[in-house]
Amino acid sequence: MTPVRPVFTPHLPPAEAMAASTGLFRTAFGAEPAGVWYAPGRVNVIGEHTDYNGGLALPIALPHRAHVALAPRADRTIRLVSSQDPTRIETLDLDQIGPRGSAGEVTHWGAYIAGVAWALERDGLGPLPGFDAALVSCVPLGGGLSSSAALECATAVALDEVASLGLAGTVAQPNDAGRARLVACCVSAENEIAGAPTGGMDQSASLRCRAGHALELNCRDGSVRHVPFDLAGQGLALLVIDTKAPHSLVDGQYGARRAACETSARILGVELLADIDADDLPARLKELEASGQGDAQVLVRRTRHVVTEIARTIELVALLQDGRPLAGDKLARAGALMDASHESLRVDYEVTCPELDLAVETARAAGAHGARMTGGGFGGSAIALVDAQDIEKVAHAVATAYEHEGFGAPAFLDAAPSAPAGRLA
Ligand code: GLA
Repeated sequence: MTPVRPVFTPHLPPAEAMAASTGLFRTAFGAEPAGVWYAPGRVNVIGEHTDYNGGLALPIALPHRAHVALAPRADRTIRLVSSQDPTRIETLDLDQIGPRGSAGEVTHWGAYIAGVAWALERDGLGPLPGFDAALVSCVPLGGGLSSSAALECATAVALDEVASLGLAGTVAQPNDAGRARLVACCVSAENEIAGAPTGGMDQSASLRCRAGHALELNCRDGSVRHVPFDLAGQGLALLVIDTKAPHSLVDGQYGARRAACETSARILGVELLADIDADDLPARLKELEASGQGDAQVLVRRTRHVVTEIARTIELVALLQDGRPLAGDKLARAGALMDASHESLRVDYEVTCPELDLAVETARAAGAHGARMTGGGFGGSAIALVDAQDIEKVAHAVATAYEHEGFGAPAFLDAAPSAPAGRLA
């Protein structure tokens, strides 16, 4: 048998991203863009399916980014082109765009871009000019790494600058309150125009992270803290395993999880499941069982995941902030929290799949300190916290296990905690 070679997905260096997106813009529109803006994909270190429950999440921004070369127009037309299909130009009218199910619905990828302009205007930030935009992204599509949020957030920082909204600031001096407002508009674009009922972690990561840090995101009040996460400095790496198993956030499974959480919260008389104290969990689960409403066993499992996941996130944040190096017992505990998160997502939340489970089992057996699925699940990606020198070895073990199991080849990324959305110099 030929040896399996793990394939790492590289990120586009800024100069290449600049040349590619500017070149695509020139070819498609015969003019120069006003600038090139970018926004990163993300992986979540822990705190999964907590965002729409008002809980905590801990994402990092990836070095893999969506880039948008954009120029404002004198009218209200939007023209879009993507390097995925450089000869096809999508044309939209900013006055006609509307939510899913309405006459103005947008059924292609342009929903993520045009939807942001629509949402900014609805938030009172218009009227905006129409625009031409050329997109070049190296965030793997459908990999559960927030390729769509990256598109939205790159568009948001571009429109912020060309329409002088003054909300984003710069990467060196971000306007965090302004960025939080842009996050809300990007979430509206995704929920209402693209029709994916997601929770906001992805857009927050893309706009509000910092290089070398994870973002402690409190989804109850939108506040953030930047938690030191200098992996390379501590001889560690975060290996992303893109399972390539197909997944979708608009196929109903994600929405069903969200609906179950809302049902539990209603039965328990809380606004959001994050309002449940971890110490009260056993009593609250008994209440759910006794309620006789819905499928009580399912509601118990979903609720247990959310409340325990928030507790795990609090513990990992506290560990990362204690000032000691991420080594020894501390590293072992961080890994154990990641492992426990995956188990909870597998057994209680039921959002993993054979490809994700095999990725984490194999990574752990090959020496990872901890491993878990990341993002929405049902496919997408897993992450493994590994010693930097072991990253190839662990990737090789996973690729080999996939081949033995007859799964398609996975792809790998090295997830260094990177900078948030901004303008490419
Ligand atoms: C997807 C959604 C996020 C979040 C995660 C699960 O990535 O877009 O809002 O709910 O799933 O943590």
